[in-house]
Amino acid sequence: MSERTLVLIKPDAVQRGLVGEVLNRFERKGLTIEAMTLRTMDAALADAHYAEHVTRDFYPPLKNFMTSGPLVALILSGDQAISVVRALTGATDGRVAAPGTIRGDLSLSNRENLVHASDSEDSAKREIALWFPGL
Ligand code: CMP
Repeated sequence: MSERTLVLIKPDAVQRGLVGEVLNRFERKGLTIEAMTLRTMDAALADAHYAEHVTRDFYPPLKNFMTSGPLVALILSGDQAISVVRALTGATDGRVAAPGTIRGDLSLSNRENLVHASDSEDSAKREIALWFPGL
């Protein structure tokens, strides 16, 4: 079944010049880019996007990182896109993410892990509405 999912190519990826590398992996897999924008997250959007994490110890430095510079937000679509994109992205911690995944190949951090991807249909709907109202 075709699904849509929300992906953020995080500020570390933009800073390191890895946007093309990350997009290339999604495109080569056969996913479709439905919408895409370069944008800097502000504090309110960070709190809304990460609503389930705002009380966690790791949230203040995460918020600081995510609002530190421009990121690329996109909607990807395709068959089972939510789980397919999560599989391509790899485990949260780049130090343990499997080789072959984006984080496993390119990140050495639990926070600066290059990519965010929606983790469920409900999250995808909520996050797409936040980043691309009306789409
Ligand atoms: P993301 O997929 O965007 O979802 C929540 C983010 O919080 C996660 O990627 C990491 O960037 C960050 N994160 C999750 N757990 C930790 C942790 N234990 N320490 C630091 N950052 C974390």
